[in-house]
Amino acid sequence: MVQLYNVGISFDKHSVLEGVSLDVAPGEFVSIVGASGTGKSTLLRLLYMDLMPGKGLVRVGSFSSDTIRKKQVPLLRRRLGIVFQDFKLLEDRSAFENVAFALQVTGAKSADITKKVMTVMGRVGLNHRRNAMPHQLSGGEQQRVAIARALVNEPFLLLADEPTGNLDPVTAHDILQLLININTQGTAVIMTTHNYDLVRKAPGRIIQLKDRTAAEVQLKS
Ligand SMILES: Nc1ncnc2c1ncn2[C@@H]1O[C@H](COP(=O)(O)OP(=O)(O)OP(=O)(O)O)[C@@H](O)[C@H]1O
Ligand SMILES: [Mg+2]
Repeated sequence: MVQLYNVGISFDKHSVLEGVSLDVAPGEFVSIVGASGTGKSTLLRLLYMDLMPGKGLVRVGSFSSDTIRKKQVPLLRRRLGIVFQDFKLLEDRSAFENVAFALQVTGAKSADITKKVMTVMGRVGLNHRRNAMPHQLSGGEQQRVAIARALVNEPFLLLADEPTGNLDPVTAHDILQLLININTQGTAVIMTTHNYDLVRKAPGRIIQLKDRTAAEVQLKS
C-alpha cells in the first residue's frame, strides 16, 4: 500500500534522507520518530507527493513517484487524509464548514455532505461544537476538526505530521487515542512525532529517523 524503495532526497545539495526503504501494509499503525530536522515532515511530504525523491521510488496506493503526473497528485490527495501540528483550519468558517469544504471541492451533493459531516464529527466527538468557529475551540478540539476533515473522504491512509505537537500531554494522549480508534476501524495511520513518551503508547511499528536513514526500533519495554 505504501512503499519506499531506497529513497534519497536533498535540499540544495544538503542530504536529508538516504537509502530509506519502508513498506506499510493496509490497516497498519506506524509511528515515525526522530529529533527535529531528521526529515519526518519530508518523509510525509514524499508520501503525499508534495516532494519527489531525488533517488529511489515512492509508491502510495496505485500511484508511483516515477509515473505520476502533476495533475494526478490531487487525485492521490483525495484518497489520503492529512493532519498537521498547526491544524490549518480556515478561520472564517465554522467547524462544520471546515469539514464540509473537503467534500464540496470533490463536487459532492449538499444532502450527502451534511450527512457525511455529521457522521465524521460524531466519530471525533465534536458534534456538539460543530457550529463553533476555530478561534472558539481549544487546541485539542481544533485538531479533532482537522482529523474530521481528513477522514470525511474516507481515506485508506491517514498521515499525521506531529499531530500532538501543539497540545498539552493529556490532550495529546486523547488525540493519540482518537487516531488509534480510527486505525482500529480500518484506516492505516502514519504518524510522526519527536515525543518518545507518546510513541511508546502507540500501537504498531516504530520507525526512527536518525543520521539520514530509517530503522525500526523497539521502545516498548
Ligand atoms: N524546502 C526546503 N528547503 C530546504 N531545506 C529544507 C526544506 N524542507 C526541509 N528542509 C531541511 O530538511 C531537514 C529536514 O526537515 P524536516 O522538516 O523534514 O524535519 P522534521 O524531522 O520534520 O523536523 P521537526 O521535528 O522540526 O518538524 C531540515 O534540515 C530542514 O532544514
Ligand atoms: Mg516536521
